[in-house]
Amino acid sequence: MNFVEIIEHKKNGLELSREEIAELVRGAAEHSVPDYQLSALLMAIRLCGMSRRETVDLTLLMAASGKEMDASSIKGVVMDKHSTGGVGDTTTLVLVPLVAACGGYVMKYSGRGLGHTGGTVDKMESIPDMRVEMTEAEMLSQVKKIGCAVVGQSKEMVPADKTLYALRDVTSTVDSLPLIASSIMSKKLASRAKVIVLDVKAGSGAIMKTVPEAIKLAEMMVRIGIDAGVRMTAFITDMAQPLGTHVGNSLEVKEAIDLLSGRTKGDLLSVSLSLGSRMLSLGGLAENDDEARKMLLERIENGAGIRKLKDMISAQGGDSSVCDDVSKLPQAKCALTLCARRSGYIAHMDAAALGMASVQLGAGRMRKEDSIDYSAGFVLEKRIGDYVKAGDVIARIYSSSEDKAEIAAESMTAAIEIADEKPQMPVLIHAIIDENGTHFVDGVK
Ligand code: URA
Ligand code: CA
Repeated sequence: MNFVEIIEHKKNGLELSREEIAELVRGAAEHSVPDYQLSALLMAIRLCGMSRRETVDLTLLMAASGKEMDASSIKGVVMDKHSTGGVGDTTTLVLVPLVAACGGYVMKYSGRGLGHTGGTVDKMESIPDMRVEMTEAEMLSQVKKIGCAVVGQSKEMVPADKTLYALRDVTSTVDSLPLIASSIMSKKLASRAKVIVLDVKAGSGAIMKTVPEAIKLAEMMVRIGIDAGVRMTAFITDMAQPLGTHVGNSLEVKEAIDLLSGRTKGDLLSVSLSLGSRMLSLGGLAENDDEARKMLLERIENGAGIRKLKDMISAQGGDSSVCDDVSKLPQAKCALTLCARRSGYIAHMDAAALGMASVQLGAGRMRKEDSIDYSAGFVLEKRIGDYVKAGDVIARIYSSSEDKAEIAAESMTAAIEIADEKPQMPVLIHAIIDENGTHFVDGVK
């Protein structure tokens, strides 16, 4: 097949055939089509879009482009969750052990931080000796034994996405709904989960800046999953401010430990409970979401959730005593308090800019090859809607150097707006999308 003709078809707004899409996927997976032709086709897709049929074909062909997981030896429903990426968003470290403590099997491939958003794999590596690379056999054996595993993306799975994602990153073609949906869902389908709960973020700190855009993406992904025989739900959740109060790798691990130990609550717990209860009800472990929510809360109160996190850390070679003594996590050399420069209400936060401030502190990478300072980041003492007096502490910044902390403090001050008027409170969960359609959830907290 002539690849120029395929580019030409999409450029002229035509629907690509399954065979043409297969050429794209093969070209990417086997590096048999040069990057410039793949890039030109990606841009034509970004500009002309894809039909539902094209998007489903692309997703399924990508999922099959490498090794797929064989989870058939697990006698139970295998569940997965995925977040499109946020700031201070560590629901995975809360949910995976909590759902496993309720009897679920959760097997999750996670990513590293990307741009201003954090990644679960980086957070887990802040735990001393924790292993995030495992063979499929090791992962399956761990899930059978303790009910859960969270590991880094396997190198053999979905090679087409690796090529295409890297090209999209440098050709301004990340923001295409069919390309995002197929990228995320191909990786989820290749891991062969039977239940998938998606957390699609909307707001200043997310890929999708508005709720309608996020809903469109979520509807696309839910349809793809249902067509592939997966029980699916997507939540549209707010990213107008970091979800948790802690941003940075070991800081987010600490927040997850505090939460599972019943020492802290807040929006991170609310979203985790919503996602987790749907996982349990779709997986048939609870009659409905309400019963599932009670089961999850009970596992926090009776300590089963934090014990499961310890089991998972130990099973992956890590030092699980960090769960009893969080000071064993990497600690920063310098701490700086960020204080309000005037009195008023916290009116707005630029969550992406706050995420970038954590990268400046060393919690993320500026370039692919950069190493991470696991102890760096910040803890927000205030959230949108809180009243502050001039001089009140808004955040505590942690860093390896005072210079870095001061630079981050400047960025954070610019990213946190204080106003005289009390702002409208952000809604935490905007909508829920499942096989029955899209439901708007006004003011769910
Ligand atoms: N995450 C992915 O895995 N792929 C995308 O395209 C966007 C976010
Ligand atoms: Ca995440």
